[in-house]
Amino acid sequence: MSPQPQAAVGAPLSRVDGRLKVTGQALYAAEHDADGAVHAVIVDAAIGRGRITGVDTADAEKHRGVLRVIHHGNAPTLPYRDNSGSNNPPGRRLRVFQDDRVLFHGQPVAVVVATTLEAAQHGASLVKVGYDAQEPSTDLAEAEPGKPTDYARGDAEAGLRSSAVRLDVTYQLARNHHNPMEPHATIARWDGNRLTVWDKTQWVMGTHDELAAVFDLPADAVRVINPFVGGGFGSGLRCWPHTTVAALAARETGRPVKLVLSRRQMYFGTGFRPSYEYRLRLGSDRRGRLSAAIHDIDAETSSYETFTEAVMGAGQMLYSMPHVSQAYRTVPLDVNTPIWMRGPGFASASFVIESAMDELAHELGIDPIELRRRNEPSEDESSNLPFSTRRLRECCTVGAREFGWHRRSPKPRSTRDGDWLIGLGMAAGVYDPGRYPGDARARLDADGTAVVEAATSDMGPGTYTSQTQVAADALGLNMRTVTFRLGDSLYPRTSPHGGSSTMASVGTAVVDACNQVRQQAIRLAVEDRESPLYGVDTDEVVVRSGRLHVQGNPARGETYRSLLARNNRSHLEANGSYTGPPSPARHSYHAYNATFAEVAVDATLGLVRVRRMLGVYDAGRIISPKLADSQAIGGIVGGIGTALLEHTVTDHRDGRIVNANLADYLVPVNADVPEVRAIYLDGEDNDGNALGVKGLGEVVQVGVAAAIGNAVFNATGRRVRQLPITAEALL
Ligand code: MOS
Repeated sequence: MSPQPQAAVGAPLSRVDGRLKVTGQALYAAEHDADGAVHAVIVDAAIGRGRITGVDTADAEKHRGVLRVIHHGNAPTLPYRDNSGSNNPPGRRLRVFQDDRVLFHGQPVAVVVATTLEAAQHGASLVKVGYDAQEPSTDLAEAEPGKPTDYARGDAEAGLRSSAVRLDVTYQLARNHHNPMEPHATIARWDGNRLTVWDKTQWVMGTHDELAAVFDLPADAVRVINPFVGGGFGSGLRCWPHTTVAALAARETGRPVKLVLSRRQMYFGTGFRPSYEYRLRLGSDRRGRLSAAIHDIDAETSSYETFTEAVMGAGQMLYSMPHVSQAYRTVPLDVNTPIWMRGPGFASASFVIESAMDELAHELGIDPIELRRRNEPSEDESSNLPFSTRRLRECCTVGAREFGWHRRSPKPRSTRDGDWLIGLGMAAGVYDPGRYPGDARARLDADGTAVVEAATSDMGPGTYTSQTQVAADALGLNMRTVTFRLGDSLYPRTSPHGGSSTMASVGTAVVDACNQVRQQAIRLAVEDRESPLYGVDTDEVVVRSGRLHVQGNPARGETYRSLLARNNRSHLEANGSYTGPPSPARHSYHAYNATFAEVAVDATLGLVRVRRMLGVYDAGRIISPKLADSQAIGGIVGGIGTALLEHTVTDHRDGRIVNANLADYLVPVNADVPEVRAIYLDGEDNDGNALGVKGLGEVVQVGVAAAIGNAVFNATGRRVRQLPITAEALL
């Protein structure tokens, strides 16, 4: 194949769907028009654990407009076929309205269907549920952990004992909620035995498979549609109970049903980043060479499913050391099941590891960047594989230069600006980006335009735009003549839109499909006696702006349009696929960053203000610089939230989430977000994907909280080992 010119990839393009979004034409889950749709509102459990003793629906059913109240006493049995393929964690998934048990505060216990939203809401308030309540267990610090997942190399206990310098620190990480702007919502419609669902999801195929399993339907009887997602951060990575509730309500009433979770219901109707208690013991010699680390990690999960995430990865491979042991225990609590949230696992572990590295640097009197440099591994010590690419040192060097690290005083509490104590901090970040098999389809039409389809999502990173870029270059078309479609289970199957996997995975399948179409056209031309390209070696033909020509000789060629017209072809079409990374793995493939923060802390009030942030990323090739900036800024903003603001608070007496709203659960607002800058190291990483990408969406949030915490220490001399870092903790 001749090298295809890259025109769109790498260009700082605006979003192809930007106009649709700002003019309200992009339709989100609840905005689709299902003719005659009625409204459903969930009644959620008012106790944290126990049994339902009765559901009195009389008043609700009398309310004008109410069509039906469904609960465990009158709901049909649902098949709930086994399905481990839709990101359902091991366990027994919550089965809506199938029995009288309440497993967590907020669990759906009934649904009211009415002709208007107001009638459904009021009807829900009239349903009287009787309970036999038990005391829930919702406190990570009080509950019994389950069996650990272990990792060990060397002899960590002995390594620690013989270390000249030892650190033994425990960190508490608060639960975080995703809080996407668009609430989770579902419209469900049955046409006979066929179910169509418009659902907020990051994975139409996952929701498709789960609904087929829950209702025991053949695969082709379910269709899931979701062209736009108003933010996700991971909350849409599985099919939650309310989607089943909507489908059940539609089937029971014979009407299309629209169900939108309220902002309050989002706190227990979808998942969350689990809270952690994380003890880290770290040993080094006096020159800062790490010898041993022991990680004791406790994380919350629900009583009915065991959710785990990649919280062990960074501790095994970020720094070189002979002795490591880890025990990761999930603690079953009377809560709903957690799920991945941006930078999952790595973001949590990195706060601990990178804060501890800063503590060690301070203890040893070594610059934090120099300490990391001294512990740079020459291979991935968890797998003994070479790195595909690893440019963490370069991230640190570039970051130090661009951020003005030399201006940092290593002595805490030594820099002031009036009443404010000023501090600089940094942290390293690593993420293990996903690469999952999947398919795509490309069609070139006789008019010279193309349509490319894959059943992926765009929760905000700009999938429409970035996939159009790689498709346009592979087809040799201009951006505006290529339409990329996603968000429909009728399109070729892909993996979840998460884990920083979409460009490497879906993008590779898209390029494969488009390359095939381009090759078909080239073959057609060189074998066509009437084509100016007749007889040319296929490897010599390139396509630019819809015109095939001999490489180096633009005059000799013709357009796709003339070629297809002369050959009476309505279109050319191909299916492409990505089969996943090499197996067994040949390389350790990770994205890295160095993140820098400058904070000001009010010396008397303890208020923390972030002043500047910089992220330097080793994330492989950047397909779309403008989209990348929005990812980086978003990740840093998310990290500011985790560091200083975000904290889901539970009342342990009854399991109720106290701050289940955007007034009391604090997320960063514009005033909290200062100057944020992102730099990407040039280069590509071709381990298992021809695009050379490593995925950016997750790594941008990893290390951010630690960089801020380390800056707070530098400003104040106070080491806060809990997230969020609040003013109270600094007084
Ligand atoms: Mo990301 S946590 O995989 O949406």
